[in-house]
Amino acid sequence: KFTVNGAQVKAQVNQHMYGVFFEDINMGADGGIYAELIKNRSFEFYKPLMGWKKEGDKIAEGDILVLNRTNHEANPRFLRVKTQSASKGNIGLTNEGFRGMGIKKDLKYDFSVMYRQSTPGLSLRLELLDGKDNIIGTATLKPEKSGEDWHKQGVSFVSSATELKGKFRIWFEGSGSIDLDMISLFPTDTWKNRPGGMRADMVQLLADMKPGFIRFPGGCIVEGHDLETRYQWKKTVGPIEDRQLIVNRWNTEFAHRLTPDYYQTFGLGFFEYFQLAEDIGAEAMPILNCGMACQFNTSELVPMEDMEQYVQDALDLIEFANGPVSSKWGKVRSDMGHPAPFNLKMLGVGNENWGPQYVERLKLFQTAIKAKYPNIKLIYSSGTDPNGAKFDYLNGELRKLNVDIIDEHYYRSPEWFLENAARYDSYDRNGPKVFAGEYAAQSDRIASTKNENNWKTALAEASFLTGLERNADVVRLASYAPLFAHVDGWQWTPDMIWVDNLHAYGTPNYQIQKLYSLNKGTDVISLTENGKAVSGQDGMYASATLDKNKNELIIKISNYSDKAKDVEFAIEGLKKLASKGTNTFIASENLDKENTIENPKNVVPMEQSIKASGKKIKTSLAPYSFNVLRFKTN
Ligand code: AHR
Repeated sequence: KFTVNGAQVKAQVNQHMYGVFFEDINMGADGGIYAELIKNRSFEFYKPLMGWKKEGDKIAEGDILVLNRTNHEANPRFLRVKTQSASKGNIGLTNEGFRGMGIKKDLKYDFSVMYRQSTPGLSLRLELLDGKDNIIGTATLKPEKSGEDWHKQGVSFVSSATELKGKFRIWFEGSGSIDLDMISLFPTDTWKNRPGGMRADMVQLLADMKPGFIRFPGGCIVEGHDLETRYQWKKTVGPIEDRQLIVNRWNTEFAHRLTPDYYQTFGLGFFEYFQLAEDIGAEAMPILNCGMACQFNTSELVPMEDMEQYVQDALDLIEFANGPVSSKWGKVRSDMGHPAPFNLKMLGVGNENWGPQYVERLKLFQTAIKAKYPNIKLIYSSGTDPNGAKFDYLNGELRKLNVDIIDEHYYRSPEWFLENAARYDSYDRNGPKVFAGEYAAQSDRIASTKNENNWKTALAEASFLTGLERNADVVRLASYAPLFAHVDGWQWTPDMIWVDNLHAYGTPNYQIQKLYSLNKGTDVISLTENGKAVSGQDGMYASATLDKNKNELIIKISNYSDKAKDVEFAIEGLKKLASKGTNTFIASENLDKENTIENPKNVVPMEQSIKASGKKIKTSLAPYSFNVLRFKTN
């Protein structure tokens, strides 16, 4: 028997509390949400022709060369193709895509290329191929302009078939010499039909969650394996051919899965992240490097006397997001098509950094940013071991600094999540707020093939989240991590959304995050059993909110046990309670149950109608279930 008291308001729920953590890990960006189909389009990977294969019965040494403009830092390499009287089949190139190319029947594809030539001569015969080399789309592009300058030209064509692992081939026809760069192929069914945009099915899964914020660009890629490969936002804005790619920190060089071809081309850069956030009604939450490379890797540090550039990058980012068009960085934003400010409100400095080196660097950021932008909330990281000494040290130091928000990460067992559901019940209310910035229950070792996104982990997270919600005055933000993973190219498990080249599905963990985000309510109210918060008694975990906009009572309760539970809620402090409400629930006695590409809806919420009599709600909770009860209160 539980008591819910609508007159005892404990906290206001941040309407942006439940968000998403985006990192280019597991082919989340290149080969994932960024819809470019050509891998290594500008030949800047460590091996210039990675992803490409020379083709043809007449191809000779020197017909296709990689050249390097030493005066062009961002995009030095290009191809030179030189040949006499070539025809189809003689000289060509095939691109393998990112684990193949996902191609859809009857969809239009946009091909484009940058080129220069002294006189028009060669033309490009384009062929989209299925897995067996059958042609499923074709076009010809005849570069028209000549001279020393680079030009861009494109052509579109329609695919005649659907293919999960397509390829793209270019045959050169005619005679002459031509330089080529930024060879690109995009589907036209991108999110909001933006040319060169994002995969709509992946963005839609995010939009469906109505996330309160998007944290980007990571994660460890913020820090970099070393400082050279840290994320630098200024290199990710402006014309895409001028964005300087870097090796991804999750490339096999540095991570444990086989992805030697993993680079960040930055077609998805900071402008696109801000725009995505705006599109789906989420607050942007950029995280910047704090002058330290990943401490799990090289631990490189920027000397204190050289920190100015890093702090300036943070100040400039705020100007890029919010500054007037007349400002230097506001103009860059405007030139990219967004004169209105993005209205950035928060900024993270550092990811999973620790020690006195982190604290002293933070002080520089804190002083400079608060002096110029006092309203920007700053988020600092407290590391990965929520019960460890490093964490305690850092939390203590951050509290002394009276920081706005501390970012806590927990990749722990399902049992840890259950045991820690009451983690914030007795948390100090006077200091910094908490951002549960990365969490995921682990059924096995991180990145093992056995580490599953199963119902057990999702239900443990759902139970834990009752504790975050109950303490919504302290825990202001929460996001599961990582967000995306490609079935053929991942470095980390578990992940919230899995994709192949054509499909995307939400895991049970996604379904839980979505239920919380869509049912957050506005005010946390008291829900007790014998005067105590419900956090593990008899395997149950619960929280309650009111939605004052919709006049509804929302009760979330998980039953983490193998027995059905008859429960009764006595509702106090509310004038009215409708006699009929709903229970949106997920239940499975099989804790190993998962969603898959083939069966994406194995574990999804169902809805049933439930009754209240007077001010009492009685219902039965299925074994191993998470339930969201909603009743009108007017
Ligand atoms: O989410 C995967 C990684 O986990 C992130 O990059 C890092 O912040 C954490 O260690």
